[in-house]
Amino acid sequence: MFEVARLVVAAEIAKIHTIEWTTQLLYDEPLNRGMKANWSGVFAKQEVVADALKEVVRRLGDTNDAKKANSLYAALAGGPGIFGLGNHVYEGVPLVGLLDPNKVDRWDLKNDDHINGGVNHFGSPFNFPEEFITVYRLHPLLPDLIEYREWNKEPNVIRQQVPVVETFRGKATEAMRQKGLANWALSMGRQRLGFLTLQNHPQFLQNLKMSRLQSPTQQIDVAALDLIRDRERGVPRYNEFRRQYGLKQLTSFDDFADKHEQDSNERTTQEQLVKTLREVYGQHQCDASKKITEAQLNDDGSPITDCLGHPHGNLIDNIEDVDTVVGWLAEFRRPHGFAISETQFVVFILNASRRLFSDRFFTSSFRPEFYTTLGVDWVMHNGPGPEMMEQGKPNGHEQQVSPLKRVLLRTIPELARELQTVVNVFDPWARDRGEYYSLQWKARAGAEGDEAFGSGQVPSLLAEPPR
Ligand code: HEM
Repeated sequence: MFEVARLVVAAEIAKIHTIEWTTQLLYDEPLNRGMKANWSGVFAKQEVVADALKEVVRRLGDTNDAKKANSLYAALAGGPGIFGLGNHVYEGVPLVGLLDPNKVDRWDLKNDDHINGGVNHFGSPFNFPEEFITVYRLHPLLPDLIEYREWNKEPNVIRQQVPVVETFRGKATEAMRQKGLANWALSMGRQRLGFLTLQNHPQFLQNLKMSRLQSPTQQIDVAALDLIRDRERGVPRYNEFRRQYGLKQLTSFDDFADKHEQDSNERTTQEQLVKTLREVYGQHQCDASKKITEAQLNDDGSPITDCLGHPHGNLIDNIEDVDTVVGWLAEFRRPHGFAISETQFVVFILNASRRLFSDRFFTSSFRPEFYTTLGVDWVMHNGPGPEMMEQGKPNGHEQQVSPLKRVLLRTIPELARELQTVVNVFDPWARDRGEYYSLQWKARAGAEGDEAFGSGQVPSLLAEPPR
């Protein structure tokens, strides 16, 4: 039972990450479709097409032309979805369109090719590359203070500012016991993430006590370590990192500034940060005879040199020295609803898909033989019992009540009222979601008094029930 439960929990975590967390971190329609395609496929409701594509994709995995098969495979897998790929095997289904959905499922527990048939490692053993670690250094998301609330008094009221540093390591268990999971969940559910940008690391991470260290300060600076570790591990610096992923290189620090942002406070801040980058990383007189990369060529086929297209001898920014984390934090222009930058996105999306592609329990072994029927239904329906649907059509789509919301409703039932209006638990709970993919920061009905929305008034305090 433990092993089965472990599979179900792992699949639930992967599902939460794919269709709930990522779709909120990257809050727009293309991403919503993309992540759904990743999990259940764009043709989820058209079983014949989905099954036919599943078969094509499965067979592509067996072909010898690796390069062609890999790209077709990754593209076509969006049809049926990656999750559950190859968990049905039909005989004589050579091509799309020729599928007879009434054919008998030949998937056989004794056949290793069936058990593993849905897995694709794309030519190298599965691992999370160092690049993924780099773009997941999301420490600026963390605040210094948690705005602590209590569910059974007036949730709109921030009762205490609890330093994050008082809530983890040896202090975590005590904090959970003392204040209770419901209050912590409510507090974190209502609080916004920190913005992933430069100069936004929380103070506590920059001065983190480590009493076992034999250093004068006995503390570490995690913001600095985010850069030091990448240097130690040989992760390329920002510009080369982008080139190796096939992205456009930058030729000066000014390229970070958002060209569409004119004469605004935002633009002034960006220019200030660009100036700081220039001070920190400096400039040099460039040498056009020095070739600097094998990863890409200029548009005209010539090698990329130290001058990055500027005339020989010009004073240019030391953009090649910018640390990768600094570079992606400095990408000020982001697509609608994107909390992360383009560079991070490219690495995320490759690894998010690959994590599913490479695991037989997420593909061909997602079967009752391993998960039990209860387990398969649990993963498919986001929890026990029949499918539960969200009210209305959030952003134009009918959708199941999402998996983490089901977990919270089940395990912390005190929060049922608070969660009533929540569609995605990674969206701040008291935010009015407004119209189609709105990013407005406005309180929903009933939370107008919440100080987090900057109203300044706390009428709800007056309405607070006696303690
Ligand atoms: C209270 C919260 C957190 C604390 C105290 C913390 C602290 C740390 C520390 C001490 C390290 C190791 C530094 C070293 O290399 O010596 C680290 C690494 C890391 N952290 Fe955090 N962190 C926190 C939250 C987060 C969050 C929320 C994320 C991402 C969502 C994150 C992502 C990472 C990553 C990707 C690494 C690198 C891991 C590796 O090198 O394999 N951390 N963090």
